[in-house]
Amino acid sequence: MKNKMMMIKLCFFAIALFCTAPTNARNYETQGIGFGYRGKNGPKRWGHLNPHFTKCAVGKLQSPIDIQRRQTFYNRRLESLHRDYYFTNATLVDHVCNVAMIFGEGAGDVIIDNKNYTLVQMHWHTPSEHHLHGVQYAAELHMVHQAKDGSFAVVASLFKIGAEEPFLSQMKEKVVKLKEEISKGNQSAQVEVGEIDTRHIERKTRKYYRYFGSLTTPPCSEDVSWTILGKVRSMSKEQVELLRSPLDTSFKNNSRPCQPLNGRRVEMFHELVHAKDTGNKKKKPN
Ligand SMILES: *[C@@H]1O[C@H](CO)[C@@H](O)[C@H](O)[C@H]1NC(C)=O
Ligand SMILES: *[C@@H]1O[C@H](CO)[C@@H](O)[C@H](O)[C@H]1NC(C)=O
Ligand SMILES: *[C@@H]1O[C@H](CO)[C@@H](O)[C@H](O)[C@H]1NC(C)=O
Ligand SMILES: *[C@@H]1O[C@H](CO)[C@@H](O)[C@H](O)[C@H]1NC(C)=O
Repeated sequence: MKNKMMMIKLCFFAIALFCTAPTNARNYETQGIGFGYRGKNGPKRWGHLNPHFTKCAVGKLQSPIDIQRRQTFYNRRLESLHRDYYFTNATLVDHVCNVAMIFGEGAGDVIIDNKNYTLVQMHWHTPSEHHLHGVQYAAELHMVHQAKDGSFAVVASLFKIGAEEPFLSQMKEKVVKLKEEISKGNQSAQVEVGEIDTRHIERKTRKYYRYFGSLTTPPCSEDVSWTILGKVRSMSKEQVELLRSPLDTSFKNNSRPCQPLNGRRVEMFHELVHAKDTGNKKKKPN
């Protein structure tokens, strides 16, 4: 009983960043107090699995969503995405429900609506959680930033199957190592990645979508400023499989279905329109 309480607690406080408590996570799932992506612990049941998860069922600002053209508005007040990423030490971990990379201090920040959010971790979902104009892609990367008040800003990139993604190519051996540790039965396996240059992950962003939503895993807290990058990137089929390889079968598909928009506005930034609109001729593309 004590153990069970402990896990609920761990989950509640850690889930936003750790998805499920890194240790005990596998028991956690089998004890039926965890969440999954199918069956009796699947997304439709999340809100009933734990009193802390009720937002998953009753929340009106839930994520992910399908970004549809007719619900998307160009907003001239949005600015180009300002991210500062630096060299940082990172650790690759298995959060049971996804593979994640945890960053040390000073990994970088993003400024959104004059609020400073610090990069804390990133993780992948397969297939994508957000749909773009009705299309679900092969994978989605979430770069999770957190402000001092605890709220989140997640920058999401969608991937279709195609050319290799260079950052993941560099990480291949580390993910394989993580998988090996886990298959040896080490449930708290983690792999030190050493110094990485997070600037490589950043891409110049001409277009993005912004809306207010929630975490896509329990407790589904509604305190996330979402930025979905407009440019769909690519990764190889092998890389999608690589990201799935350390995960249990029931978490290999780890995307929550799209949630109702409930009257929310999805705003769009587009560099070219913005430049024209604000008379900033210097920003002409080359
Ligand atoms: C990364 O960790 C190593 C070893 O602990 C340390 O020497 C190095 O300064 C760290 N790098 C950064 C950017 O923090
Ligand atoms: C954002 O916060 C970090 C960490 O507190 C700080 O180093 C950085 O200078 C801040 N950035 C801006 C633009 O205020
Ligand atoms: C499990 O992995 C962690 C981190 O990689 C390591 O510190 C620990 O010694 C490993 N435990 C076993 C039993 O191999
Ligand atoms: C994941 O979903 C795809 C498409 O719905 C399905 O073909 C595949 O079997 C699923 N994989 C697992 C491990 O559930």
